[in-house]
Amino acid sequence: MAENDKTATLTFDGKDIELPVHSPTVGPDVLDIGKLYGQGGVFTFDPGFTSTAACASTITYIDGEKGELLHRGYPIDQLAEKSHYLEVCYLLLYGELPTADQLEDFENRVTSHTMLHEQMQFFFRGFRRDAHPMAIMVGVVGAMSAFYHDSTDISDPWQREVASIRLVAKMPTIAAWAYKYHIGQPFVYPRNDLDYASNFLRMCFAVPAEDYEVNPILSRAMDRIFTLHADHEQNASTSTVRLASSSGANPFACIAAGIACLWGPAHGGANQAALEMLREIGTPDRIPEFIERAKDKDDPFRLMGFGHRVYKNFDPRAKVMKQSADEVLELLGIDNNPTLQVAKELEEIATHDDYFVEKKLYPNVDFYSGIILDAMGFPTSMFTPIFALARTVGWISQWKEQLSDPAHKIGRPRQLYTGATFRDYVEVENR
Ligand code: CMC
Repeated sequence: MAENDKTATLTFDGKDIELPVHSPTVGPDVLDIGKLYGQGGVFTFDPGFTSTAACASTITYIDGEKGELLHRGYPIDQLAEKSHYLEVCYLLLYGELPTADQLEDFENRVTSHTMLHEQMQFFFRGFRRDAHPMAIMVGVVGAMSAFYHDSTDISDPWQREVASIRLVAKMPTIAAWAYKYHIGQPFVYPRNDLDYASNFLRMCFAVPAEDYEVNPILSRAMDRIFTLHADHEQNASTSTVRLASSSGANPFACIAAGIACLWGPAHGGANQAALEMLREIGTPDRIPEFIERAKDKDDPFRLMGFGHRVYKNFDPRAKVMKQSADEVLELLGIDNNPTLQVAKELEEIATHDDYFVEKKLYPNVDFYSGIILDAMGFPTSMFTPIFALARTVGWISQWKEQLSDPAHKIGRPRQLYTGATFRDYVEVENR
């Protein structure tokens, strides 16, 4: 964190309180209010953390006004075009792009951890068949703490490293098995001669009765979806992982907490909700009706896949995703897909509508990802598990960074209490 000579002065109750100011490498300055309560006896109030930095980080930077996303300084569109998911995982985890040898070693380490402890399949089998795959993932990832005792000691850097590799390596197997269980098919074991995305597609779509050939264009599109979701600085699920970890909880418990948070429709669940909305709209002539509903203050309906807390411009991931959707649908010969037509027309209408323009609501990453996943054959219930799989490396990178920060302490927000003041207990017969 860069020190500078700037300070800010807050005057409260006739007293001046000097606040240090930290300058980031890029982005707005940050007022350090850590000593505010000690010096001034006041708290700050910022529900939803709209103006509050909860930590210092070197991993990901977003410029919401420009619509820019950088991982360790590299823009997401370059990474999506020129790199691939495991290389981006290395970049996020270790801070630099790997050399050829480092990449080979990392890929080998990930590949050698793809299998799950055989006993873990009984956890899957304990769920109802109609369980949502996200429910299974929260349970199974949390249960990893009961299986991998040799990587739960967070004070040991080697155990932290093994836990990180295990989570990146096993998450595709867990997501694929949640899917297989959900549709009543046998589990397919990982194959280590396949790349990360191809292996995941095979575990989802192969059956013992016949061979499954992975289409390289679909595998590239899958890899790109993973890459575009790998990290997104201090979003709700990442902050959840950091808060869980701040108490010293083990890595598997922390990632299970992140998966639970990601599930909500305002966050990772939006890709499922967006496709369901596009299907409900059905045909372009019904778009105006839904636009009007989204603008109506008395209607809770929102355009899913639109808007973002940080981006006040196009989400750069959505641009790449849209191009990918075109490629995949053309390859599969379904480029006249009615859902894609509705999506394109909805984007066109909404991005020229005063309401959306004034509020700076643009399509986000979830707007087009569902269309690609649907075309690949995934049911909507698998969209958020795929997001969780891909985001795992971001959660782990942030978790590792937090633990290696000497300044880290338990997260404990304060509150603006608005309840009853002190009152004496009243016996039940006197109420
Ligand atoms: N449709 C219609 N109106 C919207 C939308 C939308 N999708 N999003 C925000 N607004 C309006 C909202 O009603 C509010 O209006 P007003 O100022 O008149 O009250 C204004 O825009 C600001 O909204 P907000 O809820 O205060 O903004 P936020 O930063 O708290 O919420 C958001 C961000 C992503 C939760 C929200 O835009 C939303 O609910 N979008 C739909 C769900 C979605 O696509 N989520 C995926 C986010 S990207 C993937 C991820 O990071 O997980």
